[in-house]
Amino acid sequence: MNSKLKLGVIISGKGSNLKSLIEATQKNNFPAEIVIVIANVPNIAGIEIAEEASLPVCTINHNDFNNRELFEKEIHAVLTNARVELVCLAGFMRILTDHFIQLWLNKIINIHPSLLPSFKGLKTHERAIKSGAKFSGCTVHFVRPEMDSGPIIIQAVVPINQKDTPATLANRILIAEHKIYPRAVKLIASKRVFIKNNRVSVKDSSSTNEILINPNS
Ligand code: GRF
Repeated sequence: MNSKLKLGVIISGKGSNLKSLIEATQKNNFPAEIVIVIANVPNIAGIEIAEEASLPVCTINHNDFNNRELFEKEIHAVLTNARVELVCLAGFMRILTDHFIQLWLNKIINIHPSLLPSFKGLKTHERAIKSGAKFSGCTVHFVRPEMDSGPIIIQAVVPINQKDTPATLANRILIAEHKIYPRAVKLIASKRVFIKNNRVSVKDSSSTNEILINPNS
């Protein structure tokens, strides 16, 4: 029996993406398992979600360290001790140093609530609405030193409705996030993801040639 890919999930808040990863890993034959959850903020909802799932969880509060390097050294030690093979940033709100990213090159993925490379950074839903764009969405990508950059693994498109507020759009995009994050992990754990020239290709993926139109004609 092939061993499951060992995941370390790092959170900073609600943990809704952690929850969707937990649910996915609880399904039979899912090729990955969560071996550690790390929170960089104490007493967040995501910690309770991890505890309810009886997962090992620890808080490594970045405020307890004199600098980013010492904070990341502790994270690296916990991930290494847990024999993590893939780090999943799930609502993690810190910038990682180049050094840490190089230590874990192509072993850290992140979910971002926009169609990268559009709308990197914060307040993505507000900015997408203000831009007049007709679609937004979410992206799972490998982490690189430049924020919200790195090879894109999977995306989902979500229409922006004329009456959308950042909150209503965020809620619809979160539903899509919870679908694509487990799918990205499964693709990686199934050894179907390859990176060449900073672009991801997925082995045996069906080509999608549908088009989406908004507003619907
Ligand atoms: C999500 O929109 C995620 O894309 C962003 O943080 C938000 C909250 O994530 N990185 P979660 O509910 O804590 O997983």
